[in-house]
Amino acid sequence: MYRLAPSLLSADFARLGEEVENVIAAGADWIHFDVMDNHYVPNLTIGPLVCEAIRPLTRAPIDVHLMVEPVDRIIGDFLAAGADIITFHPEASRHIDRSLALIRDGGAKAGLVFNPATPLHHLDHVMDRLDLILLMSVNPGFGGQAFIAGTLGKLAAARARLDAYKQESGRDILLEVDGGVKVDNIAAIARAGADTFVAGSAIFGAGRDGDPHRYDTIVAQLHAELAAAAA
Ligand code: DX5
Ligand code: ZN
Repeated sequence: MYRLAPSLLSADFARLGEEVENVIAAGADWIHFDVMDNHYVPNLTIGPLVCEAIRPLTRAPIDVHLMVEPVDRIIGDFLAAGADIITFHPEASRHIDRSLALIRDGGAKAGLVFNPATPLHHLDHVMDRLDLILLMSVNPGFGGQAFIAGTLGKLAAARARLDAYKQESGRDILLEVDGGVKVDNIAAIARAGADTFVAGSAIFGAGRDGDPHRYDTIVAQLHAELAAAAA
């Protein structure tokens, strides 16, 4: 019912393959893969070559979060690199419907990402094209930032829209949250309506104390909080 998606942004890049394997072995569900271009966001990270390199290491879905502008040219490269899910920011695409279609036509699941101040009205004409929506609970670009509390109300509004859409269409669209998710707030975020949780520094920061690169304890804690929220 709930999915945990560790963000590689906070992983040890010198041991990236091992990090992917360890975090999935610890019980995480997806690999969240942050792509930044030093243009749409003020940081530069990893691209299709790295996605291709980690693809053989896990059967877990690779959740590619594009923080790039323009969007369309890079979609094909991530499809070829084995991405399962590709999300992008509507402000970064000239043709949102076309970008979503490119992702789906390539066989991946497609989603839109909403910055803290981006209104949900971008959903208006594309619900049928979406497999998930991702609400940013920090401004994109960096790991380790504090969760923006206003995201809880926005999650509730998004949840209501997705539930209404499910009623009329019978189709589920996932609701993912990204930024500042920790053991002490994940239950409240789940109660606000999220079903999929990105966590970068909370997971990869926790493994290093005493037992480096082992994430069983932190992943179990996060899952336990989610189980309590569902009860
Ligand atoms: C920020 C990225 C996030 C980031 C989250 O732009 O999209 O995925 O890694 O990091 P934490 O969980 O540390 O806020
Ligand atoms: Zn992300």
